[in-house]
Amino acid sequence: MRMGGQLTPIAQSYIENFDVVIAAIPNIFTRKWIMDTAKEYICLNSYYEDMHIDGKNRRDTYRRMVGTILSELRSGKNVCATFYGHPGIFACISHMAIADARDEGYEAHMEPGISALDCLVADLGIDPGSHGMQSMESTQFMIYERTIDPTALLILWQPGIAGELALKKLETNEEYLEVLVKKLGLTYSLSHEVYLYEAATDPLEETRIDKIKLGDLPKASLKQITTLVIPPAKELVRDQSIVDQLNAITVRRQQFAQKVA
Ligand SMILES: C[S@@+](CC[C@H](N)C(=O)[O-])C[C@H]1O[C@@H](n2cnc3c(N)ncnc32)[C@H](O)[C@@H]1O
Repeated sequence: MRMGGQLTPIAQSYIENFDVVIAAIPNIFTRKWIMDTAKEYICLNSYYEDMHIDGKNRRDTYRRMVGTILSELRSGKNVCATFYGHPGIFACISHMAIADARDEGYEAHMEPGISALDCLVADLGIDPGSHGMQSMESTQFMIYERTIDPTALLILWQPGIAGELALKKLETNEEYLEVLVKKLGLTYSLSHEVYLYEAATDPLEETRIDKIKLGDLPKASLKQITTLVIPPAKELVRDQSIVDQLNAITVRRQQFAQKVA
């Protein structure tokens, strides 16, 4: 997320030493550093233009990116494909490239990185373990039947492109967001307070943590990097029948242990 301090030593060593580094990195400072550091650098950012071509969409862009990674591999090079955050979280290109490379008999693996979720936990001071956490892509939440647990934290990724089914734009609009809010409204009150979170990715940026009412989401300004954080709306309800079962097991095991002692 932040090159200064959040790039893992092993990722840095691959970037410095592999024959070629292939990247779709939005942050200009990170891109510049990779450009100066890598032996050879292939920038994939311009591939996003493909989705504006008639008959093409984001999936074609991703396939072309995977194609470039694979063709460099086939030419006999050691290839390092880099992504911001964790390369395996909401980053289908890395998963596809590794699967394709392995299918063709190449050794390929992923190194974990610090994701937006890791930054979110630190910046918002939220422990996903305290109430449990649900995490999903905003459009996926909208178009599939999902059962949301209001006693747990809900993280919605990519609200900035929510509802954009054509996969041709990297933006959403007020009407799509109204549909999202209406669906969330089945579980949460429209006055429930949610956060719009954007981690700073370089020293010139400030982290955004905006607390808004759920009902105000359609009018909010959302970027591609915004993550929607929905805190639990209800208290956890104890399942007494399970507690009773567990206690009964404990008592039975203690009695058995006393008998054999
Ligand atoms: C394609 S996913 C990439 C996630 C990335 N691989 C990671 O591990 O964080 C893009 C989504 O990640 C989240 N995201 C990316 N950058 C972020 C940032 N700086 N702050 C908060 N969330 C961010 C947003 O939900 C955004 O829509």
